[in-house]
Amino acid sequence: MSERIAAAVWEKPRRRFGLGAVLAVIGIAVVLLVSGLSGSSNAAPARRRGPKPTATAAQQRSINTKVNALIARMSVQQKFGQLTMAGPTPDNNVTLENEARAGDIGSVLDLTGRDNIDAVQKAALQSPLGIPLIFSLDVIHGYRTMFPVPIGEASTWDPKQVGQDESASADEATADGIKWTFNPMVDISRDPRWGRVVEGAGEDPFLGSAIAAAKVRGYQGNDFSAPHKMAATIKHFGAYGAPVAGREYNTVDMSTQQLFNDYLPPYKAAVDAGAATVMSSFNSLNGVPNTANPYLLTQILRDEWGFGGATVSDYQAVQELEEFGYASDGADAARLALTAGVNIEMAVTLGPTGPANNPVYNDTYYQYGPSMLRSGKITMTQLNDAVRHVLTLKYLAGMFSNPYPGIANPSTEWLTPQHLATARQTADESIVLLNNSNPPGASTPTLPLSTSTSSIAVVGPLADDPVDQLGPDVPIGYDTSAAAAGSGGSDKIVTVLDGIKKAAPNANVTYTPGCTFTPTDTCNSTSGFAAAATAASAADVTVVVVGEPASDSGEASSRSDISLPEQQDALIQAVAGTGKPYVVVLMNGRPLTIPELASTPALLEAWYPGTTGGDAVADILFGKVDPSGKLPMSFPRNVGQIPISYNELPTGRPYDPNNKYTSKYLDVPNTPQYAFGYGLSYTTFSISSPRIVGTPSRTGTFRVNATITNTGSMAGADVVQLYLHEDDTSILQPVEKLEGFKRVSLAAKQSKTVTFTLGPQNLGFYNAEGRFVVEPGPFKLWAGDSSAVGTGTPTTFTVG
Ligand code: BGC
Repeated sequence: MSERIAAAVWEKPRRRFGLGAVLAVIGIAVVLLVSGLSGSSNAAPARRRGPKPTATAAQQRSINTKVNALIARMSVQQKFGQLTMAGPTPDNNVTLENEARAGDIGSVLDLTGRDNIDAVQKAALQSPLGIPLIFSLDVIHGYRTMFPVPIGEASTWDPKQVGQDESASADEATADGIKWTFNPMVDISRDPRWGRVVEGAGEDPFLGSAIAAAKVRGYQGNDFSAPHKMAATIKHFGAYGAPVAGREYNTVDMSTQQLFNDYLPPYKAAVDAGAATVMSSFNSLNGVPNTANPYLLTQILRDEWGFGGATVSDYQAVQELEEFGYASDGADAARLALTAGVNIEMAVTLGPTGPANNPVYNDTYYQYGPSMLRSGKITMTQLNDAVRHVLTLKYLAGMFSNPYPGIANPSTEWLTPQHLATARQTADESIVLLNNSNPPGASTPTLPLSTSTSSIAVVGPLADDPVDQLGPDVPIGYDTSAAAAGSGGSDKIVTVLDGIKKAAPNANVTYTPGCTFTPTDTCNSTSGFAAAATAASAADVTVVVVGEPASDSGEASSRSDISLPEQQDALIQAVAGTGKPYVVVLMNGRPLTIPELASTPALLEAWYPGTTGGDAVADILFGKVDPSGKLPMSFPRNVGQIPISYNELPTGRPYDPNNKYTSKYLDVPNTPQYAFGYGLSYTTFSISSPRIVGTPSRTGTFRVNATITNTGSMAGADVVQLYLHEDDTSILQPVEKLEGFKRVSLAAKQSKTVTFTLGPQNLGFYNAEGRFVVEPGPFKLWAGDSSAVGTGTPTTFTVG
């Protein structure tokens, strides 16, 4: 939840609650960096039964013993307290501290600042049992060094690099005392109307799984009690990314096979990577709210996947079971959620209310749990299991041995040269070159620009907007006034204008916004366009930076029209009308419908590129770095094509432009504007047909080689993508699905052979009962650098 939303919620306490007087198996989630994750990861492992492998047995035993001893000393109220997560209180946290001192809460969210955190922790340690709290926050794409938004990180197709972002984020957040992040969001989505696609890795389960696992490892390392590590949360479980009509918080309804094949794999990959916690999602799935969904939270997560960590509800989601009409009252909500498998209730505090001006807690566990227990609706075993998960999380996070993990001067960990270099590298890799043609009369493409260009006009509302450039999900506590101070300010943000000036120091660089995203303008007035056109006419080239203001994506930011907002198209047209060369740079949090930009000579998708974004955009504009980002999500031609994804199922009447009675639209092709996996480079590549080494089988692994050649005249980078299709199966298989990828950098004319290892996890699928099966084939396998139809020459095989 962003600060803005938190503020909005704060203003409108809408519920009744008075002040809430205020694990059978501990499969410990210290883990296990399974086989090193690289850009060629082969995730999506088969479903396994029983508990997953854990930390050393000795570690487990020692923690189990301590946890059991503590539970034996706890009162019922103290147990429910451990299951309650509270937020800052408007009385300068006096109430929060009192709650902590009474042992009425177990964890805290959204409290930032080491001194604030330490004060509340001190109170908790004075509670009757002295159980420490754990402090949590949405650290989504950075804490002080802001990395590209997650969809941008996914555009790198470089899980290792993305893992480094999270490792740096953990360095920065833990310095402040925050040991638990609510990230990664691993929700697959095929619907760019949904604003939260900005927080995820796009539409594909294979890419999404690799990124999910890398993020968990980045935050946690192999021991998240370590000083610079923190617990990660897999969210939002599950299938939160498929709300009907792309409308936030809406219903999800899907078949078992789609759930298992397309939506669950990234959650599973993150569980296998050792994620400490899982957050249940707001939505209902097939008619059951996920906050009360034992099928997901117990059967799949615990029994099938062997998850041993703690589960947490989403923000006030337990009491919302009543709003759903699923729970009859708050007590019923507590019963439903706890018995379904939600261990911790994120019960947040709302604003002051009532004559005593008391903060309002929305908890149900603490208020109603004890009576539910007395009446037998919750059993002591269920309660103890939930408490066991929470205490184990705290032991694993090192809270008992080091309850004050923050450091004396946390800012020494923030915005370090190393973190800024990581952010720039990720941003460099995340930018996707969508178009690059020759300007009229020229014999070379528009990009890259020469650093000796004598005059450059920079235009557009997002060219010098340090706050929007960071995108949504800037953490609570981040000082946006420092961001607004711009380049050289305390948070070192480099805008595109700054980046261009640095990269071309001898050029005459002008800035004419045309319009701005401010409360008084919002780019719906064209009054500044003439000045922008004049600047463009006077310059050798114009860079136009347009897109969505950051508040257009993220939570509660669904849009039904996902075109470029307001008058920005007209601004581009004003620049284009000058007849001078120009480049459009997009900053946005979702795929947009931009058919009018299909003929833009040069078009870059920069997403929200973060603190060093302006340097990264300049790196690409001037060719210091070859563009190598690839889209993790299809760009539809119009909203009527949504939901859209490259891995759709075949039909009996496949698209045929000459036959009306085939699966198509009358008014638009079936294909997206820009395909999943697409992204141009300044050089050209050819990729061979894959060569199979060994014998594919239902049970063993085999290798696949493909050779990529840089056929152009400059060095560059590309992502080799391996796609698979299977026919004659018991249920239809996608027309293509990604089963491997590898990022490669090559000098001009250089070739490299990349190797993928495939096995049953790549060949099989989940059937209509949710069981993983491998069927004989025939299979087609091909390699390319996009999912676009017709890319790559297939090799075929069957398995015995
Ligand atoms: C969001 C979660 C987030 C939580 C805490 C909720 O509104 O859905 O993703 O972690 O708030 O901020």
